[in-house]
Amino acid sequence: MHSAVDVIRAKRDGHRLSEQQIDWVVDAYTRGDVADEQMAALAMAILLNGMDADEIARWTQAMIDSGEVLALGDVGRPLVDKHSTGGVGDKITLPLAPLVAACGAAVPQLSGRGLGHTGGTLDKLESIPGWRAALSLEEIAAQLADVGAVVCATTPTLAPADRKLYALRDVTSTVESIPLIASSIMSKKIAEGTGGLVLDVKVGSGAFMKTEPLARELAETMVRIGGAHGLATTALLTDMSVPLGRAIGNALEVAESVEVLQGGGPSDVVELTVALAREMLALAGITDVDPAQVLASGKAYPVWERMIAAQGGDPSADLPVAKHVEEVVADRSGVLARLDALAVGVAAWRLGAGRARKEDAVQAAAGVRLLAGLGDEVEAGQPLLELHTDTPHAVEGARAALHSGLEITAERPARGPLLLDTIRGA
Ligand code: URA
Repeated sequence: MHSAVDVIRAKRDGHRLSEQQIDWVVDAYTRGDVADEQMAALAMAILLNGMDADEIARWTQAMIDSGEVLALGDVGRPLVDKHSTGGVGDKITLPLAPLVAACGAAVPQLSGRGLGHTGGTLDKLESIPGWRAALSLEEIAAQLADVGAVVCATTPTLAPADRKLYALRDVTSTVESIPLIASSIMSKKIAEGTGGLVLDVKVGSGAFMKTEPLARELAETMVRIGGAHGLATTALLTDMSVPLGRAIGNALEVAESVEVLQGGGPSDVVELTVALAREMLALAGITDVDPAQVLASGKAYPVWERMIAAQGGDPSADLPVAKHVEEVVADRSGVLARLDALAVGVAAWRLGAGRARKEDAVQAAAGVRLLAGLGDEVEAGQPLLELHTDTPHAVEGARAALHSGLEITAERPARGPLLLDTIRGA
């Protein structure tokens, strides 16, 4: 007979939880037999005292077992997915899913909405007129077989323990625990039924993990969980100290993704899309197609059109445009030496691109467009970025967020690489 108090005390005192304790507490919490305040105490004990690799693998399995594993069946192509830990301007799923499908694999991406300063993929796609996020299992399987790429809302039956626990962690300051983050992400991806997984683990001011050692630990933990569950997993560590691309905000990011799919777009977005595609194709066993060439040729764009149309969207419709646009200009001449991802993310969020509570609506057209890049020479008075919003009173807060995030100096800053490392499963 288990009791929540015993489980909490064990972890509070720094002991390992047994497999039986983990199975019981996750199941009892999902059913409502363990109260929110008890799970909150346990989450805090886990945050403070950690879990070892075996505990994390078991915790992940218990979260998977709280719901269903999607049975997608044979869609005629290898299934492979990607997950990003989230960043500013991170629209990479939008060009990546059609690109990987154009190269012969199928991408079943069940995705979430944004909370805080990082945007959610569904929020971005919902700026396309008519596009709908909710699909049935049959629709997902049919679209995978037909188009090769689905980006849709996660189903309520997928890892329900995570849904409940994540909401609780959000309000009890227990999100930032590597065992809890890793098991949360991996339980959903394993339950989704993908055959391979590439993780984009972000490092820097705009990311969850601000330092490389922490990001590396998260990446290694997730790759290990994948291995323990028979899911081939590779992680890339990538820089998130500056925003990705030139567009931050829902419709703005869709427009930039379309540019990339048509063979153009900012070089960092292209570089990361291709790097992730290469790893996904390797896991899918597709080695005779060069994703860089496919992307540059524009051949992934028709797949995007079909992916959007299959979910009711009109890929040729005009995207929403903000009612109010104003510029931020350089206050002196020199080199743009600081363009901080967190500052730009918070500015876009305050303009209406993100939400503070999960019930909030987002503005499709709100966000930031960068007119200058890190290391560019700029003249006093030159526009550095555009602020887009339907609610002009939000501009003051956005400007305040940018205040310490932009810096113009006489010296050109050293810039590190976008791709920091690759961590492959054993
Ligand atoms: N994303 C998730 O899905 N879970 C976490 O715990 C953190 C980020």
